[in-house]
Amino acid sequence: MFSEFQHLIDLSDYPVAWWKKVVDLGERIKNDPSAYAHKCEGKVMATLFYEPSTRTQMSFQTAMIRLGGQIIGFDNPANSSVSKGETIKDTTKIVSSYADVLVIRHPVAGAAKAASLTADCPVINAGDGGHLHPTQTLTDLLTLKIEKKKLSGLTIGLCGDLLNGRTVHSLCKALSCLPDNKFVFISTSALGMPAYIKDIIKANGSSFTEVNDLEKAIGDLDVLYMTRIQEERFSSREEYLKQKNTYILDRRKMLNARKDMIVMHPLPRVDEISVEVDEDKRAMYFTQAKYGVYVRMALILTILEEKQISETLKGKIYGGVRCNNPKCITNHEEYLPKSFRSSGDETLLECEYCDERILI
Ligand code: NCD
Repeated sequence: MFSEFQHLIDLSDYPVAWWKKVVDLGERIKNDPSAYAHKCEGKVMATLFYEPSTRTQMSFQTAMIRLGGQIIGFDNPANSSVSKGETIKDTTKIVSSYADVLVIRHPVAGAAKAASLTADCPVINAGDGGHLHPTQTLTDLLTLKIEKKKLSGLTIGLCGDLLNGRTVHSLCKALSCLPDNKFVFISTSALGMPAYIKDIIKANGSSFTEVNDLEKAIGDLDVLYMTRIQEERFSSREEYLKQKNTYILDRRKMLNARKDMIVMHPLPRVDEISVEVDEDKRAMYFTQAKYGVYVRMALILTILEEKQISETLKGKIYGGVRCNNPKCITNHEEYLPKSFRSSGDETLLECEYCDERILI
């Protein structure tokens, strides 16, 4: 299935050279923002945020305003017709006829992909449930490029909620496509990296280790990527409380880290980084959030200028087969074609919306 618009749902839909081009443009914009101040005059961007956001929504809006464009949208679906039961299909169909580019964040995996099937303008995934967050990854890549001067040959520790954290899923998928990156997953066994992401990392030829002790692991890292325990993705508050406070990066742990290690975090932080670390020159999370505006300016420009056709669904419908993942959009919006990729073995299928695997 094809769409006449160029969407960004998952960075893996593009070759590495494409994301590098966007990141390079982001760096050029950072160095000379005024040269881009009128590039999107007359253009409108819609931000449909079905889930809370500070940085992603505002950095997208700032990006469009700094390019000379205008913004529309909602950040509380209760104030839109979503509260009357409108489907993603209808909302995005209409809003995409008002705007030149649509940015969507939704609590359910695969929602941005669903929007891209029928939207009449390019769709950008600004986070779909615990699944992916490609524009945070572009922000992270720009941060690494500027602060570490490279995107390869890095040992990256990822700590916290690796199961539900969409930022770390997108980041590992991307960094494993670049040579000689090694991952250290630091989490409790309940919040480890999903098997499908580990399989992608292996298939891309990168290696990872899984540990549970941040203090022991920190000394080997070039980058420490801290994450919040994603309370909203837990089945109950009790389950969340069991995981809360397991990992706290403080000044004492930073003593064991290399002098040139950087600490990243997509933010918001809850208590996983003590405020005392903010004063450490290795703390890069506030700078990282600032870089998000430049890279999103680069992304908006690229998508609006290139106007490539996208292949939205590449798989097949296997009569009657549906995704088992209750957090997949196909189990929330019934009209969607239940499309699966075959993993080579016809009995193991991958849902094209949430990447969950099912045996048939
Ligand atoms: C992240 C997100 O929404 O996934 N925040 C962000 O976009 N910068 C991380 C989080 O909410 O923990």
